[in-house]
Amino acid sequence: MSEPGKQKIGVIGGGLMGHGIAYLFAAAGHPVGLFEPMADIRASLPKRLAAIVELFGDNPALLQQIETYDQLAPAVKGAAFVFEAAPEKLPLKQKIFAELESAVAPETILASNSSAIPSTDIGRDLKHRERVVGTHFWNPPHLVPLVEVIQNDKTSDAVVRATMNLLRQAGKVPVHVRRDIPGFVGNRLQHAMKREAIALVAAGVCDAETIDTVVKEGFGARTAVLGPMEQSDLVGLNLTLDIAEVLIADLDRTAGPHPFLREKVAAGKLGMKTGEGLRKWGPGEAEAVRSGCHVFLSSRRKPGRKVRPKTATRHIARPATPGRALTPADSRTD
Ligand SMILES: NC(=O)c1ccc[n+]([C@@H]2O[C@H](COP(=O)([O-])OP(=O)(O)OC[C@H]3O[C@@H](n4cnc5c(N)ncnc54)[C@H](O)[C@@H]3O)[C@@H](O)[C@H]2O)c1
Repeated sequence: MSEPGKQKIGVIGGGLMGHGIAYLFAAAGHPVGLFEPMADIRASLPKRLAAIVELFGDNPALLQQIETYDQLAPAVKGAAFVFEAAPEKLPLKQKIFAELESAVAPETILASNSSAIPSTDIGRDLKHRERVVGTHFWNPPHLVPLVEVIQNDKTSDAVVRATMNLLRQAGKVPVHVRRDIPGFVGNRLQHAMKREAIALVAAGVCDAETIDTVVKEGFGARTAVLGPMEQSDLVGLNLTLDIAEVLIADLDRTAGPHPFLREKVAAGKLGMKTGEGLRKWGPGEAEAVRSGCHVFLSSRRKPGRKVRPKTATRHIARPATPGRALTPADSRTD
């Protein structure tokens, strides 16, 4: 049952992202109206939502808070916030936002989960543009804590504050992105790394499997507790500058997507879904990676924790051997 005083949340689209967004708000005690136009996807929702209940060991009764609709207006009726997670097409999102404007109160906050389309463009023709904001969740949205809250030129500060508060209360970790730029912050960082990784493989420096090992067993192993800014300060900016002097000019600077990536796509090598992309995927291997990722992320979700403490304890380095005291060498992380 929804908790008294919890605002209604509308969710548009019950696909990969939408069903997880609906779940996380229901788990935080909100009543949720979920609009999904495709009958087969609507029919698959109970099973997909039940799988999250099972993954988390949550009370299945919380699913009663999610009402699914085949029409937009009843799903968002009375909602304080609407999160749009429809396909990544600008005309479609503009049409949905126009419909939303006539279906909700003028103060209802309208958030788009677009990965790349600026909310400035999505909300361009609306009357009340101050309540349009970007909220970029990460897949799977019920497992990855971060949500980038992107303020466009028209979004009011009050709307950003209210959206961040709502997300915090639902156990997410919102960050304020002050400019509506392509890729926001997270995807710019992620794609900067992918650009170099693809160029290294294309140049024959190493294979794709080695790239994954270097990240997962190297700096990636500590990234969840030591961000790149913290790491730079930890090793010292003088060292960071010395390395940058040697390295930056040597990094890939291909203009546009790398030809190696274009060739893979043209050859139909799209990744796990076609059995080959940057790596080859045999039977069961893709599913093993996917479920391993879900199990890892769900193990980091603390049961009963709704709000993260503002000042989290920082773990910088751990002794390599249990029981061994830290030495200065342990905090060297370059
Ligand atoms: N998949 C990701 O990793 C990811 C991560 C962050 C953000 N996003 C963004 O989230 C949005 C949704 O992505 P997804 O991966 O969930 O896509 P998806 O295709 O899995 O889901 C989209 C859903 O919207 C429904 N839909 C189609 N037309 C609609 C309409 N007119 N009104 C409402 N719903 C409609 C579809 O039937 C489908 O169920 C996109 O903007 C995407 O860029 C995706």
